[in-house]
Amino acid sequence: MSTTEVLGILTVLCTVVLAVEAHTVLTYPGWRGDNLVTNETWPYGMQWTYPCGGHFTTTNRTKWPITGGAISLQPGWFQGHATAFFYMNLGFGTDGPDHGPPNMSFPMVPVFQIVGPSRNPYPGSFCLPQVPLPVNTTAKVGDNATIQVVEIALHGAALYSCVDITFADPHDPEIREVNETNCFNSTDISFNNVFSMAAGSQTSSAQRTLEIASALPLLALGLWALL
Ligand SMILES: *[C@@H]1O[C@H](CO)[C@@H](O)[C@H](O)[C@H]1NC(C)=O
Ligand SMILES: *[C@@H]1O[C@H](CO)[C@@H](O)[C@H](O)[C@H]1NC(C)=O
Ligand SMILES: *[C@@H]1O[C@H](CO)[C@@H](O)[C@H](O)[C@H]1NC(C)=O
Ligand SMILES: *[C@@H]1O[C@H](CO)[C@@H](O)[C@H](O)[C@H]1NC(C)=O
Ligand SMILES: *[C@@H]1O[C@H](CO)[C@@H](O)[C@H](O)[C@H]1NC(C)=O
Ligand SMILES: *[C@@H]1O[C@H](CO)[C@@H](O)[C@H](O)[C@H]1NC(C)=O
Ligand SMILES: *[C@@H]1O[C@H](CO)[C@@H](O)[C@H](O)[C@H]1NC(C)=O
Repeated sequence: MSTTEVLGILTVLCTVVLAVEAHTVLTYPGWRGDNLVTNETWPYGMQWTYPCGGHFTTTNRTKWPITGGAISLQPGWFQGHATAFFYMNLGFGTDGPDHGPPNMSFPMVPVFQIVGPSRNPYPGSFCLPQVPLPVNTTAKVGDNATIQVVEIALHGAALYSCVDITFADPHDPEIREVNETNCFNSTDISFNNVFSMAAGSQTSSAQRTLEIASALPLLALGLWALL
């Protein structure tokens, strides 16, 4: 085999490897921008960059209800992950790095797992129609915040996507309408809660499972803070 042929095969292999990464597209309420690119600037792919997949804080914020609202996304852009864990976090204000939030330490929902069709890319969507504000937090109409969606891939690496929002009255006509076009669950994606077994414990209760699930995002963020 000639060197050219070997290089050709390597190129094809690399292309295949790059093409099999899953990526998250935030379809509602929107996103900071397209970050699906892999090029010389982002050799491992832009979306793997903490905290917001390579995009800086935007000024074209979208309005989102102060009472919580919908988050809709396509989890398997390019290539379906058989399974993936999802975190949805909120960061408050603009006092942090890059005029964004100081941190993304406020989980909005317990971590959950999706099961998608395996192998091939799938254009499926899922949508949580009523994601609440993080526990024990409040916001005022007009406050700025950032929603961060984290998808943990099968091999443990994390994909990030964010949207900068301004909290609005739920009846504000500028809030994008939520309907069956932009908020639906594809039939080929199913959901699992994340179950944990407490070591050394004979009993298990739904309550404990939920508590552990809620603690996981904080734990994960704690670990990131150490990096
Ligand atoms: C903000 O602008 C960027 C760049 O034009 C665009 O890709 C993104 O979708 C916009 N975000 C929102 C929430 O409208
Ligand atoms: C890679 O893509 C990003 C996002 O589109 C762009 O800003 C950057 O200039 C690109 N880098 C190269 C080397 O083309
Ligand atoms: C919220 O963000 C918008 C757009 O970046 C900005 O014009 C506005 O001053 C910010 N509001 C607050 C309270 O920081
Ligand atoms: C995260 O930011 C909030 C302000 O939004 C602040 O009150 C809190 O102490 C910060 N948490 C950590 C762990 O830095
Ligand atoms: C929320 O507040 C209640 C009452 O102060 C407290 O018991 C609970 O631990 C808090 N939860 C979180 C996640 O901070
Ligand atoms: C759903 O809402 C979007 C705006 O978020 C709108 O563009 C679209 O026409 C609506 N679809 C239906 C079927 O009402
Ligand atoms: C999609 O499925 C999740 C998990 O079962 C559920 O919480 C959510 O309400 C569903 N979304 C829609 C639009 O029905």
